[in-house]
Amino acid sequence: MITRRHFLAQGAATTAALALPGLAGANTAGFGEIRAQKAAIQLAPASYPRTEIWGYDGVMPGPELRVVQGARVQRSFLNELPQASSIHWHGIRIDNAMDGVAGLTQPAVETGGRFDYDFLVPDAGTYWYHAHNRSAEQVARGLYGALIVEESEAPDVDRDEVLILDDWLLDPETAQIDPDFSSRHDRSHAGRRGNFVATNGRYDLSQEVRQNERLRLRLINAANARIFVLALSGMDGWTVALDGMPLPQPEPVSEAIVLGPGQRADLIVDITAEPGETAHLVRLEDQEGASQAAFPVIGQASADRRATPLSLPPNPGMDVTGLDAASHARLNMQGGAMGTLDAAVLNGERKSFRELVDANEFWAFNGTVGMTDTPLINVSKGETATLEIYNDTSFPHAMHLHGMHFREIGKDGDLGPFRDTLLMFGGETRTIGFVADNPGDWLFHCHMLSHAASGMMTWMKVT
Ligand code: C2O
Ligand code: CU
Repeated sequence: MITRRHFLAQGAATTAALALPGLAGANTAGFGEIRAQKAAIQLAPASYPRTEIWGYDGVMPGPELRVVQGARVQRSFLNELPQASSIHWHGIRIDNAMDGVAGLTQPAVETGGRFDYDFLVPDAGTYWYHAHNRSAEQVARGLYGALIVEESEAPDVDRDEVLILDDWLLDPETAQIDPDFSSRHDRSHAGRRGNFVATNGRYDLSQEVRQNERLRLRLINAANARIFVLALSGMDGWTVALDGMPLPQPEPVSEAIVLGPGQRADLIVDITAEPGETAHLVRLEDQEGASQAAFPVIGQASADRRATPLSLPPNPGMDVTGLDAASHARLNMQGGAMGTLDAAVLNGERKSFRELVDANEFWAFNGTVGMTDTPLINVSKGETATLEIYNDTSFPHAMHLHGMHFREIGKDGDLGPFRDTLLMFGGETRTIGFVADNPGDWLFHCHMLSHAASGMMTWMKVT
């Protein structure tokens, strides 16, 4: 019997060597239909009832879409949910009309409605798709999946595994999803954090491996608010890409891997544990040393480790130049519990923080709660833009730019890796720069989805 305490503390010793069937049967092609549906899955341990979720094609995670670089993705989205919805293709340098942001790039698709997504994927890498209407609810109910764009020449690995990390807020008695998606506390603090952590919808994900086998692990943080802090045990390797984009050189994993909501990391790892042992992806942020995913070692693939992997080929036309002549903007992030915000504009009217709290709105960008009529940045195609962001709040935020990747500009002008989501801690000031090469209206928001829902959302315009 699994007790309530055990349920909440799960993950500490998940050693069950359970081989998974993988994604057999999933529709992985770039074309066809994709349906948002209600479904029930065995998320909690078997002694619990199945959990009612919302999933793409009734599965969770949704079907893994795997295409080659440059391919065309055509998916006719059918909404069979009781709520309007849309699909955003996170991290893709996409045609703006296909970006899936309900209310900005398309109307939300009503129940029974359909929208034909049709776009090219210019960049290889690890991306994901998720609901982008009432996301704090719809993503938390399970509406997400991986979108994998393969390099035309795949790196030399034995296996390629997608690991989608999430935490679920479940009723510990019934294993049903907590239906309060706009809790005042979650919105005003760190966001909606779950009490049940899973990988690919499995709390006990386990994949058999062999010693010296080389795996590409594609980590995707699909959680509403949790920052995953991860380490490797019984395996050793390199980070080769972040937010889909290759690093110039593989970086040895020597410190913890920190993934804010929306962020991805591609690792190439070699199994170093001995046959009979179990390697783990380890979660550090709570319950020191919990297993996020287990890799029981059942034999040896070869006697020795392989040489350091090559870097992945760079994606086309990725460069941040023209910083000297860039148009510059500044963003002050304010609000939340224990913050300094005393008033902000909500729906065109100035409100005291007390009034904002009464309206269940907590966050402001440059003094305005939520979307403004005019964009934060308005540039013409090909221009370079820089944005200085000050996190004047007591909480971390994962700032996601749609449609383009940016690089962080360090204090001495050095450029960080290409990313689409910047994790910022309270009190930090950070600067990003990007070439606005993709025309359209692009959302820029906190990927702590309860924060986005209560004010942390703005947009940029490229004409
Ligand atoms: Cu991954 Cu605006 O979202
Ligand atoms: Cu936030």
